Amino acid sequence: MAQDIEIKVENGVQVIRLLRADKKNALTGPMYTAMSEALDAAETNEAIAAHVFIGSGGVFSAGNDINDFLRRAEPSAKGDGGGIPAPSLDFIRRLPKVTKPMIGAVDGLAIGIGTTLLMHCDLVYATPSASLRAPFLDLGLVQEAGSSVLAPARLGYPRAFELICLGEPFSAERALAAGFVNAIVPADQLEATALDAACRLVAKPRQALLASRRLLRQGFPDIGAVIDKEAEAYAVLMRSPEAREAFTAFLEKRPPDFAKARQKG
Ligand code: COA
Repeated sequence: MAQDIEIKVENGVQVIRLLRADKKNALTGPMYTAMSEALDAAETNEAIAAHVFIGSGGVFSAGNDINDFLRRAEPSAKGDGGGIPAPSLDFIRRLPKVTKPMIGAVDGLAIGIGTTLLMHCDLVYATPSASLRAPFLDLGLVQEAGSSVLAPARLGYPRAFELICLGEPFSAERALAAGFVNAIVPADQLEATALDAACRLVAKPRQALLASRRLLRQGFPDIGAVIDKEAEAYAVLMRSPEAREAFTAFLEKRPPDFAKARQKG
């Protein structure tokens, strides 16, 4: 299994735990691949009825590792099509295909895919310190993971616009009020709360559970097609001088200078 992630199955629940707290649980290629393989394997494993995503060290996830973004943004990466790194896109494409319930357990920051992943979850529990953020635009990018339609569906259009275009953080309380989060629980009860909900789902009649989930989701549009459209826009923007400047500035720990980046082209 990849470093920085732990995936365990217990009592019918697959727990996917991000363990890269020194880098705020930013997701690397091997971490995405491990999650994709785990989600895939669970589809045909009768012993698994639900998934729980959880972070560590007081953080859910700071999103995609920006070093990987920068590598994809380099002109030398042009030959391979660029865009969202392949392991990340593979993972994102799997999310709408998952048939078993997914539960997000969020403590602290949930940034980028840390937030858009939650839009695919059936239940989300958060601690008072949870903060959901989607700073794609400030990185010179567009949103991903189908959040173009899932965010308005979850939050309503004006709040989705605030999250994605203004880059406003959503506190746990605001996310709860918006209906994005099911409950706010103390940090020391987060995992137990998520596992309790998962175990209650495991105990349900399995076929009826999967059918109910499928029926509840029938009003969603074709999320796979939305993901592909987002990925196309992402691939173009990722090579823009502004995106490169945003990635470099973050790694150099300085504010970005978009005007200068545009001039340099
Ligand atoms: N990719 C790569 N490294 C990341 C990262 C990311 N998305 N998020 C955090 N890190 C690394 C930092 O570079 C730093 O590494 P270092 O100790 O080697 O310098 C370490 O994690 C700790 O982060 P730091 O920025 O020092 O902590 P902070 O508490 O001041 O800020 C964040 C935390 C998450 C607010 C800040 O790191 C951040 O904004 N990260 C980027 C989030 C983002 O834009 N993600 C992409 C979304 S599409």
